[in-house]
Amino acid sequence: MRKAVCPGSFDPPTLGHLDIIVRAAGLFDHLTVAVLVNEGKSGLFTAQERMDMLSTALAGRTNITVETFSGLLADFCRVRDIDAIVKGLRVGADFEYELAMAQMNSHLAGVESIFLPTAPQWSFVASSLVKEVARLGGDVAGLVPDGVIDRIGRRLAERGRVE
Ligand code: PNS
Repeated sequence: MRKAVCPGSFDPPTLGHLDIIVRAAGLFDHLTVAVLVNEGKSGLFTAQERMDMLSTALAGRTNITVETFSGLLADFCRVRDIDAIVKGLRVGADFEYELAMAQMNSHLAGVESIFLPTAPQWSFVASSLVKEVARLGGDVAGLVPDGVIDRIGRRLAERGRVE
């Protein structure tokens, strides 16, 4: 059984993330979506909320599970016998950032990294930009899963649009 992981912050998940996740799940027997619990950094959403949004968007996909993780991704892969880390690449800068991490994860756990080219329609979509546009009153429909739009609106309203 070939297993892979798609790790990330997913704050919030975007349609670009979902595209990579679904395509990765098509290449492996099982895919774990691993949501980073970053205790040092408070995002717009808690790790549990990010997990809930991903689980809702991926409902019915039987070879995908969503989990949280903290600590080293290499350890997460080793403990679960995961063969590969799958990441999406939007632009060249993503590759620069990802290459060293891929080599470090290979060094630490012998785990391979596989890079999937982002579908062109999502190449400009990043969680950070989605949050900024939403915070400044822009429309993020069509960039994130439907249920996520409402959640972003509610969270920004709770915080008085200040993150
Ligand atoms: O969505 P992001 O923020 O680009 O995801 C980055 C993530 C979570 C994949 C990366 O920060 C990570 O793997 N963090 C876990 C800690 C770790 O293993 N660090 C060493 C990386 S070589």
